[in-house]
Amino acid sequence: MLAGIDTSAGSDGDHDRALIAILAAAHAGELAAAYAYRGHWRSRRGAARWDDRREIQRIEAAEWHHRRLVHGLLAELGSGPVRWRELLMATIGRFFGALCFVGGRFGPMYAAGRLEAMNVGQYVDAAAHARAGGRAEMAELLDEMVAEEARHEEWFGDQVRGHPLLPLVAAVGGWRPPATPTPISASVDH
Ligand SMILES: [Fe+2]
Ligand SMILES: [Fe+2]
Repeated sequence: MLAGIDTSAGSDGDHDRALIAILAAAHAGELAAAYAYRGHWRSRRGAARWDDRREIQRIEAAEWHHRRLVHGLLAELGSGPVRWRELLMATIGRFFGALCFVGGRFGPMYAAGRLEAMNVGQYVDAAAHARAGGRAEMAELLDEMVAEEARHEEWFGDQVRGHPLLPLVAAVGGWRPPATPTPISASVDH
């Protein structure tokens, strides 16, 4: 999660500039995620992995959709993608996508969950800047993207929850699956 932003200070122009910087990074980040997930679902072969494959495919499609939305937002702000970032993130995404073919199940699922948590933070900050800069409609769209990324984070988190490697990797990686809601039976039993 990124550090919170101070939305009380700054002119609308400052918020727009901050928004453009976050969205340009997010636009390239979505490309990395989409390529990485394409490698990830393709590496999940066989009937036993069918559910993984289908869900990661669905998440890949959501990332392409986000990318189109972010492109539109950047255009609305009079800006666009940053070429070197796009190239760099495309390479990173393809690299991690290829890595999914040599690793086990845990690594790619953990890395994806961690990436999704960063995306949540990016869009939370972007929405805050949009709102503080008087762009309510844009903020609402960004809120929806936060919710979608949080769903992705939760799904990847569910795939690694309880794994014996998780405590060690979480200590190094700085991310652990989001807490699951308390079961209803536990909350009404008193
Ligand atoms: Fe996304
Ligand atoms: Fe995502």
